[in-house]
Amino acid sequence: MGSGPDRSLLAVLKGERRDPPPVWLMRQAGRYLPEYRELRATKGGFLELCYDPEAAAEVTLQPIRRFGFDGAILFSDILIIPHALGQDLSFTIGEGPRLAPPLKNVPLESLQAAPQRLQPIYETVRRVAAALPPETTFLGFAGSPWTVATYMVAGEGSKDQAETRKLAYLEPERFGAIIDAITGLTVEYLAKQVEAGVHAVQLFDSWAGTLSPEQFERWVIEPNARIVRDLRERCPGTPVIGFPKGAGGKLRAYAEGTGVDAIGIDETVDPHWANDVLPEGLTVQGNLDPLALLAGGDTLLRAVARIRETFKNRPHVFNLGHGITPEVPVAHVEQLLKWVRA
Ligand code: CP3
Repeated sequence: MGSGPDRSLLAVLKGERRDPPPVWLMRQAGRYLPEYRELRATKGGFLELCYDPEAAAEVTLQPIRRFGFDGAILFSDILIIPHALGQDLSFTIGEGPRLAPPLKNVPLESLQAAPQRLQPIYETVRRVAAALPPETTFLGFAGSPWTVATYMVAGEGSKDQAETRKLAYLEPERFGAIIDAITGLTVEYLAKQVEAGVHAVQLFDSWAGTLSPEQFERWVIEPNARIVRDLRERCPGTPVIGFPKGAGGKLRAYAEGTGVDAIGIDETVDPHWANDVLPEGLTVQGNLDPLALLAGGDTLLRAVARIRETFKNRPHVFNLGHGITPEVPVAHVEQLLKWVRA
């Protein structure tokens, strides 16, 4: 081991196995924390919080102070990229995000790019990097091009991403240009997060699960492979976690085709199956059901034990299969950490 600080999460993302496994939770900074709700109320809204580096850095650090997770994830949102590409962005309580104008109605070229909207995020990264405990790994992130495109095309979230899947079939060249624009800016955005102080990055592909195998290859695997390749060139040695939620039987193709350093698996994936089909030695992240965390008690204890046991022979990062739900009691998170680290 070198003379620098020992960051167990970073070591595992680089392919080492650690026992107990490092642990962090998707959406660990958020509404289940009273200190988050309190700060958010003083800032007026979620987006205001994202664009206020002092507040966003504070929110990033809140779960580290309270629980001592092995990883801190930058507090921001995947929809900052569409905002920087020139769409208007708003979050209305109870309605989810809105992007305007939706690209189903207007061409990409009609947007006026606004790359300066990314600057406050880098300032947040610098502040967090300066304040984190030396053993904590700092994770940056972006949405994967497909998932980001589903919001840009529809202008909002949707159950089955039908409008975007249709556009991809009916106008593949026009849709390909949207994917290319997102991909290019995402590489730039992630590289600048690394330069500002993150140690590794995660690509969130929340809607990877609704594509046919051919479309998955073209709109999920190919753009993510380009991000991994270009980022590796600009920031050698920075691990990339891919999280293709819902990919199921396509997980191995994703791992092999993208070249990610670690793969996040959601709670619907059987850990034994994943352990068998994923390339030997590849770091796996996951995959506790967020609702098992909500349930707590014996249900949680058994689920934690099963996941740890299944991944005992490969590098494993303990995490949820998807984001923590706002109703989760803080005491359940404390209990989880105790059991993961036992
Ligand atoms: O994980 C973290 O703690 C870091 C911050 C983070 C947020 N969003 C904060 C957030 C990350 C990594 C994301 C990713 C994100 N954002 C995804 C991919 C992961 C996933 O959950 O599938 C997606 C699809 C989005 C888009 C988005 N942002 C939606 C659909 C919503 C509204 C739904 C909701 O949960 O309220 C958001 C808002 C959002 N992003 C909140 C937080 C803490 C809630 C805002 C609030 O009300 O305070």
